[in-house]
Amino acid sequence: SSNQMWGGRFAAGPDAIMEAINASIGFDKRLAAQDIAGSRAHAAMLAATGILSDSDAKAIREGLLTVLSEIEDGSFEFSTALEDIHMNVEARLKELIGDAAGRLHTGRSRNDQVATDFRLWVRDQLDAADAGLVALIRALLAQAEAGADWVMPGFTHLQTAQPVTWGHHMMAYVEMFGRDLSRVRDARARMNESPLGAAALAGTGFPVDREMTAQALGFDRPMANSLDAVSARDFALEFLSVASISAMHLSRFAEELVIWSSAQFRFVTLSDRFSTGSSIMPQKKNPDAAELIRAKIGRIFGANVALMMVMKGLPLAYSKDMQEDKEQVFDAADNWMLALAAMEGMVRDMSANTSALEAAAAAGFSTATDLADWLVRETGLPFREAHHVTGSLVAMAERKGCDLSELTLEEMVSVKDTITNDVFDVLGVHNSVASRTSYGGTAPARVRQQVARWKEILE
Ligand code: ARG
Repeated sequence: SSNQMWGGRFAAGPDAIMEAINASIGFDKRLAAQDIAGSRAHAAMLAATGILSDSDAKAIREGLLTVLSEIEDGSFEFSTALEDIHMNVEARLKELIGDAAGRLHTGRSRNDQVATDFRLWVRDQLDAADAGLVALIRALLAQAEAGADWVMPGFTHLQTAQPVTWGHHMMAYVEMFGRDLSRVRDARARMNESPLGAAALAGTGFPVDREMTAQALGFDRPMANSLDAVSARDFALEFLSVASISAMHLSRFAEELVIWSSAQFRFVTLSDRFSTGSSIMPQKKNPDAAELIRAKIGRIFGANVALMMVMKGLPLAYSKDMQEDKEQVFDAADNWMLALAAMEGMVRDMSANTSALEAAAAAGFSTATDLADWLVRETGLPFREAHHVTGSLVAMAERKGCDLSELTLEEMVSVKDTITNDVFDVLGVHNSVASRTSYGGTAPARVRQQVARWKEILE
């Protein structure tokens, strides 16, 4: 039989394969609450503008609430023949209230309907990401505050570079996730315009009030161009881009946690709550949550690229290709939220092994720069020469198999006769970090300042 929604023009129903490739109800049922909110706003507006009678609008708005409760309590029967969430909801509404249901779609198309639903859904996810990022930042602040003066190695090329503080390392991620948070908020502000009332593509001759529906749905304003309103998916792409950048940060941190929790590093102990064991090796405690964050991030990048590919060749306005936007965004959103929550849990629970951190901080001649700086400051040597002298001292210590601080004053003087006993003060890792007081530097005093600043920002 022909389709009950557009059967007028059709003599035959769709092939089973057609139905399978066409239907989106399997995934877009996740838009049910947004779809019903959009339809209720639309119906109220139709009544307010005199396009629909008050009694029809009332029946529609109440019927839609019944549909919503059926969906929420699981009694709603979704039908693939009805294609998508919009048709499923409207068909059920018709069963419940009769012919008035057929008036709901006045001055509207599924094109502006789906664009509205999807914007509302993505907006909720941006709000969830906002909350997830704030929670993660708070967990990092707690770590930074506890360990503002614990020393650890700072790396470049994953080779020991200079000592830094644990708090400083945590605060580096606070800055990154803080920028993610600001990107989330920017994206939300930019996408918060209503497509509803754009109808199929050209607008409508009915005297709709787009300001009214925009306001009812929490949008800042209606979108200014009806073609754009139904064609645009840059809001979804921006969501995926923001998610991808944030996911990249999560993945870098996850990678560090995998390294730090290894027996070779022992910088941190992850809690049992965020680790797993091995079925064969009794000693094992694996950082699975960190590894899965690192891995799931690939799906978010993939979704971003996939939707770019879907969109890049589409002429205006709506094409059915755009139905493929949803699964990518759903999957990316689910995995981003999960990764944020898992990272927050791991960060809250992890304990730093301060003695291992400090031992590692001193290894690898990490205070060589401090020695060179001392030569510049105390003996007036140009930095390039000081660099050379220090290099010779490092080579000497390496030959002896000792640390810079374990060279004797005589050995030092044999390389540069202006060196005095005072030099040993700067070779200790605590003095090293305490001396890095430049704005944004690793000195504990600077780290505490930044922690206080962020607490204020999050107030
Ligand atoms: N299920 C469709 C989607 O997700 C709804 C819009 C259908 N519009 C159309 N002209 N066929 O994109």
